[in-house]
Amino acid sequence: MGEFVEIFEVGPRDGLQNEKALIPTADKVALVDCLSGAGFRRIECASFVSPKWVPQMADSAEVLAAITRVPGVSYAALTPNLKGLERALEAGVDEVAVFGSASEGFSRANINASVDESLARFVPVTDAARAAGLPVRGYVSCVVECPYDGAVAPASVARVVAALREMGCYEISLGDTIGRGRPEAVDAMLDAVLQEIGPGQLAGHFHDTAGRALDNVAVALARGLRVFDAAVGGLGGCPYAPGAAGNVATEAVHDFLVGRGFETGLDRAVLERAAAMAQAMRGR
Ligand code: HMG
Ligand code: MG
Repeated sequence: MGEFVEIFEVGPRDGLQNEKALIPTADKVALVDCLSGAGFRRIECASFVSPKWVPQMADSAEVLAAITRVPGVSYAALTPNLKGLERALEAGVDEVAVFGSASEGFSRANINASVDESLARFVPVTDAARAAGLPVRGYVSCVVECPYDGAVAPASVARVVAALREMGCYEISLGDTIGRGRPEAVDAMLDAVLQEIGPGQLAGHFHDTAGRALDNVAVALARGLRVFDAAVGGLGGCPYAPGAAGNVATEAVHDFLVGRGFETGLDRAVLERAAAMAQAMRGR
């Protein structure tokens, strides 16, 4: 048996949030239920953000109410503030995530706050989540490049990672939000971040705009990371990251890992079915 590497499926959230035409709730539910049968431990399937900002995620509570929960699978959601956390708790999520940025430009565009303001806002969210017994994941966007500010300094990423660690985030996902990061830049960024936190508490979150996501997965694997976010069918993009293409496709990361002797615990045939469903939802 090869070493286990986990793929954290983000397709139903990161993959779908950017789709312009509203996707029927039943289709989202069917996608999540298909994914639950693929062997994922964690599936991000909801986002309790402002429905004015991201209309596609407005039915997150309905999705969570209608899915068939598979024991052992953690159904996750984004929660930018206390209002989002309240909605997530009501919907019965298993874990939540706060999401910040290493760059000021993206932070303002995405969550209408400076980096420091956002970190201050996350403290009561992480405190309340912990009090409610929910694990909290942290995201850092724009870990190598920002669509507004250009190249991002590794030290800026390390600073936000340290702040999220202090808030008790159990894992911090490092996002190449616009998918233009070069492996050398990802490596330099990881060098700085690993001064703050061990690789076992990090995840790689690569978008594939420039076709370098798998190269970046390889760099992160070499640095000891063993969790990667991906979206079936390569769905995705962020509404506040102009030009960003999809997340790296789950099937591609799976094949890449298996080809290198790792185990993912995923059923390739089910992934194929989920990818086809995801593709059919795209660009209606
Ligand atoms: P704001 O406008 O500054 O907030 O938004 P506000 O507190 O002034 O509230 C404005 C209105 O929104 C109010 O309603 C609030 O009630 C409502 P009104 O009084 O005008 O009717 N509101 C909410 N409604 C429902 N749920 C909530 C909520 N919060 C406020 N939670 C806010 C600030 C953060 C809410 C907003 O900017 C927002 O929702 N942004 C979301 C952006 C987003 O979802 N981006 C995509 C996800 S991040 C991503 O994709 C990157 C990632 O994948 C990693 C990577 O790739 O790098 C994670
Ligand atoms: Mg993303």
